[in-house]
Amino acid sequence: MDRSPKHAYYPTKPQSQEETINSNTVDLLPVLVDINDSYKTIRELGSGTYGRVLLAYNRDQQQRCALKILPKSTTKFRDFQREYNYSLILTSHRSIISTFETCYQTQDSYILVQEYAPLGDLFESIPPQRGLPEKHAKIIMKQIASALEFMHDKGLIHRDVKPENVMIFDADFHKVKLIDFGMTRKCGSYVRRLVGSIPYSPPEVCEATTNDILVTSAMDIWAFGVLLFCTLTGNFPWEHAQITDIYYNEFLMWQKHQRRKLPSQWFRFTPRLMRLFNKMLDPVSESRCEISEICKYYDDRWISETVRRRPSHEDEGVEEDYSSGGSISGTDLEEITKMMKDYGLDQHNQNQPHLHSSIDIPDINNQALSDNSYFIKKQHNSDVFSHHQHKYIS
Ligand SMILES: Nc1ncnc2c1ncn2[C@@H]1O[C@H](COP(=O)(O)OP(=O)(O)OP(=O)(O)O)[C@@H](O)[C@H]1O
Ligand SMILES: [Mg+2]
Repeated sequence: MDRSPKHAYYPTKPQSQEETINSNTVDLLPVLVDINDSYKTIRELGSGTYGRVLLAYNRDQQQRCALKILPKSTTKFRDFQREYNYSLILTSHRSIISTFETCYQTQDSYILVQEYAPLGDLFESIPPQRGLPEKHAKIIMKQIASALEFMHDKGLIHRDVKPENVMIFDADFHKVKLIDFGMTRKCGSYVRRLVGSIPYSPPEVCEATTNDILVTSAMDIWAFGVLLFCTLTGNFPWEHAQITDIYYNEFLMWQKHQRRKLPSQWFRFTPRLMRLFNKMLDPVSESRCEISEICKYYDDRWISETVRRRPSHEDEGVEEDYSSGGSISGTDLEEITKMMKDYGLDQHNQNQPHLHSSIDIPDINNQALSDNSYFIKKQHNSDVFSHHQHKYIS
């Protein structure tokens, strides 16, 4: 077989989504006997649940690229084929990673070739315990919302929205792209739950009692809401979206109006952003908002000025009603200040755990209420949230 990349195209590039379902056999996939013939591998860019991603230099095309290498020992051909097909179908969107038609197999692995993102992933860009400035978070959210809307319009659900799957191309975040379509499935299909869950999983997944979980766009919306929280704070809002998780339960009680005070880790957000969170993190998946809803909130202030300074003229007209829904009314700033003190919010930042801390889950019994946020840690590197704990298969 000719091993030069220009002849090594995947034999049946999907022309439509339907065509991706039954096509191809592993025998038709070009064989790359020695990867060094076509690529000079430079360094490892990352490793995930399923394999490794290497920075490589394509000798023929004289450009850098990312090689996603999936071991055959853990990846079925049909799973590789699905990820390749979906990656290629989605590649035209400006906020989705470009995937090359060329792909390979070696004796041990399947290989996807994608454009290289020089500034790493969003996880690495979020300052621990602080989060990114509102301005940057908005720029990122707009692009990823557009990518998700594109996917949802095609009836595809990403199912693994998290900062590690958002790649950065420039320092001011004007070019970011969604990656990793290994978990992507058709809307309306069913997936089997393996074990456990992750902070980005919605309650209907965390609490599922049957093995068949219906794939819906609401799953991505939930994960996107958690991603927004992580981006703005550098912490997780909770570990699991289950009532046994005290931090999730506090939020849920506030949503259901059974608790008047907003839990402290949400305190920095404006009522307007809380309204959006309330819609994205609706515990009832059917009531959760669509991705298109998010664009209505870009022009609003997201981080409350009152958390950082005394009110000034700039605050005039800013809504301060932290109710989880219903009509908006003015809020007593003194009460907010008192609530901040009640929650120890003046010491909040000092107490919060570090983004890249080696410890993941605080001892809940000893956890002060003012400290109720989880460390963000790369999901695929975490010992506590180990890969297999939170993966689902179709
Ligand atoms: N095109 C790219 N350019 C630069 N780095 C990349 C690229 N693709 C992936 N990476 C890095 O490699 C990591 C793993 O890639 P990817 O998410 O595709 O693998 P995975 O095994 O499917 O991961 P997961 O644990 O999310 O399932 C990413 O989080 C990122 O840091
Ligand atoms: Mg990934």
